[in-house]
Amino acid sequence: MYLISNREMLKKAQRGGYAVPAFNVHNLETVQVVVETAAALSSPVILAGTPGTFIYAGLEYMVSICREAAHINHLPVVLHLDHHEEYDDICHKVQSGIRSVMIDGSHLSFEQNIEAVSRVVRFCQNYDVSVEAELGRLGGQEDDLAVDSKDSFYTDPMAAKEYVSRTGIDSLAVAIGSAHGLYHGEPHLDFDRLAAIRQQVDIPLVLHGASGIPEEQVRRAINFGICKVNVATDLKIAFADAVKAYFTEHPDANDPRKYITPGKEAMRKVVETKIHICGSAGMM
Ligand code: 13P
Repeated sequence: MYLISNREMLKKAQRGGYAVPAFNVHNLETVQVVVETAAALSSPVILAGTPGTFIYAGLEYMVSICREAAHINHLPVVLHLDHHEEYDDICHKVQSGIRSVMIDGSHLSFEQNIEAVSRVVRFCQNYDVSVEAELGRLGGQEDDLAVDSKDSFYTDPMAAKEYVSRTGIDSLAVAIGSAHGLYHGEPHLDFDRLAAIRQQVDIPLVLHGASGIPEEQVRRAINFGICKVNVATDLKIAFADAVKAYFTEHPDANDPRKYITPGKEAMRKVVETKIHICGSAGMM
C-alpha cells in the first residue's frame, strides 16, 4: 500500500461537499490510532508531520510506520509535510517517498512567497506530489513555529486568485480567524471572507488551527468550501490528559503498554468526532 498525494482526495471532497481531516502524528501510537479509526469508519485521512516531528521521530521511521499502517489497514494514506519551509528539506523528503507537501511561505512578502512556492511546485510536478501553500498568516503556535497575533493577517480574496494562478498549487491554506494551538476566548471565523475567497479560487481550501473551533463553525466552514481540516492540539490534549489521569490513579505505574493505552483510547474518540464533523465517514 502506498503513501499517496492528496490531490484526488481533496478534489473528491470538494465535489462531495465534505472535508478530509488531517491529524498531526508524532509516533507509532498516533499513527496507529488515526489510521485504524479512519479505516474503521471508511474515511479518507491525512497524516501530517511538522519539521520538528520528522526530527523527533526520524524520516525513515515516519515513512515506514505510515506505509505499514496503510498496508495493515487496507487504506491508502497521505503522509503530508506540514509547515515546511526549506526547499532542500522538502526535496529530500519527497525523494524518500512522501507525496504531499505544504510549503509555508506565509512569513515572506507576496512576491517572495510566490517565488518560493513556485519553485517547490516545479520540483513536485516531477514526482506527482500535491502542494499546499498559505496566503495570509495564522497566529498561534505550531511546534517551533510561533506567530504573534500582531504579525498574523487574513487572506485577501483577490490576492488569493493571483497567488493560485501564478503558483499552480493544488490547495490553499486560508487565514480567516483560526489560529494554531489554544484559543483565548471563542474564535469567530470570517465566513464572508471565506465565501469571497471561494468565489475567486476554485481549488480545495484548507483550514489550519481547527482544534478548539466550535463544531458548528467547522461544519459551516466546510459548507463554504473548506476541504481539509487540520487538527493537532486536540489530539495532544486528549492523550496527555488521559495519561496524567492514569498516573494520578496509579502513581507507581511504569509499563508504557499500560499507561499509554488510555491515551490512545482518548485520541481515538477525538479522531472519531473529527471525522464525523468533517462528514468524511464512508467516503473512502
Ligand atoms: P491545531 O493545533 O490548532 O489543531 O492546528 C493544527 C494545524 O493547523 C496543523 O497545521
